[in-house]
Amino acid sequence: MELRNLGQTGIRVSPLGLGTVKFGRNQQVKYPSAFELPTDDQVRHLLALAAELGVNLLDTAPAYGSSMERLGRLLPGPRDRWVIVSKVGEFFEHGRSRFDFGFDTTVRTVEHSLRTLNTDYIDAVLIHSDGRDLRIYDQEPVLDALNTLKQRGLIRAHGMSSKTVEGGLRTVAETDIVMATCNPAYPDEIPVMKAAHSAGKGVLIKKALQSGHLPGPEGVREAMRFVFDQPGVGSIIVGTINPRHLRENVATLESVLA
Ligand SMILES: NC(=O)c1ccc[n+]([C@@H]2O[C@H](COP(=O)([O-])OP(=O)(O)OC[C@H]3O[C@@H](n4cnc5c(N)ncnc54)[C@H](OP(=O)(O)O)[C@@H]3O)[C@@H](O)[C@H]2O)c1
Repeated sequence: MELRNLGQTGIRVSPLGLGTVKFGRNQQVKYPSAFELPTDDQVRHLLALAAELGVNLLDTAPAYGSSMERLGRLLPGPRDRWVIVSKVGEFFEHGRSRFDFGFDTTVRTVEHSLRTLNTDYIDAVLIHSDGRDLRIYDQEPVLDALNTLKQRGLIRAHGMSSKTVEGGLRTVAETDIVMATCNPAYPDEIPVMKAAHSAGKGVLIKKALQSGHLPGPEGVREAMRFVFDQPGVGSIIVGTINPRHLRENVATLESVLA
């Protein structure tokens, strides 16, 4: 896949990124059907296939169960072949989410993620919003911590996986990257994408395929066309543990972008 600039971060990403929730967590998720976590061999195969197809972007988080640990163990090198996006603020423990946006927690989380991912830098770390995006910016020191980590060279860029239009716009103003939701059934955050484009900030899109609640291959094509018709999109992060879907998604997106 042809790489694109992620805003002005200097990071170049494939227009399709691989979401890895399903690599590590199958509780409290909103996919259409229940699933078993993939085996190590299946994860290795998916990552090798992603590399072969030209996908360079992987999205993970501490809240995605064993996803990050498995990437650390199973990701084929070299490290700079991949762009890794991770998060801070949400933890998934004993079957439920807990949020902590404190300064020390944020620093410790990133240091722990570096060890888990077996790397000395993470390309981008996003604040994993609990839905109260503006409260996080106004009342929590998490962005100060991410700025400190950026100065230390441990992360290249920061942002928020936001959940509101107001929070997305604030993310555009204060950080490098916004991860917004966009699909034909939820166009609400398009103003955030437009603002990011105007400001030269990176845009990552989650839930482009409505978390799998789409009617068949034509639905996938329509959704991809809809998202990439908007300005400034760096990459859509699509979660899959099905190699056939990964191949189809790359082929469909390449034809949409051609
Ligand atoms: N920060 C946040 O708050 C947040 C929230 C949600 C997601 N995310 C990130 O964004 C990523 C994507 O979000 P998402 O997983 O909710 O939604 P998504 O990418 O819209 O949908 C993923 C679902 O679609 C299915 N799928 C993928 N390709 C398909 C195809 N060609 N045909 C039919 N079904 C297909 C997958 O099932 P198969 O495994 O069977 O392919 C999976 O169940 C996540 O993995 C995560 O990295 C972040």
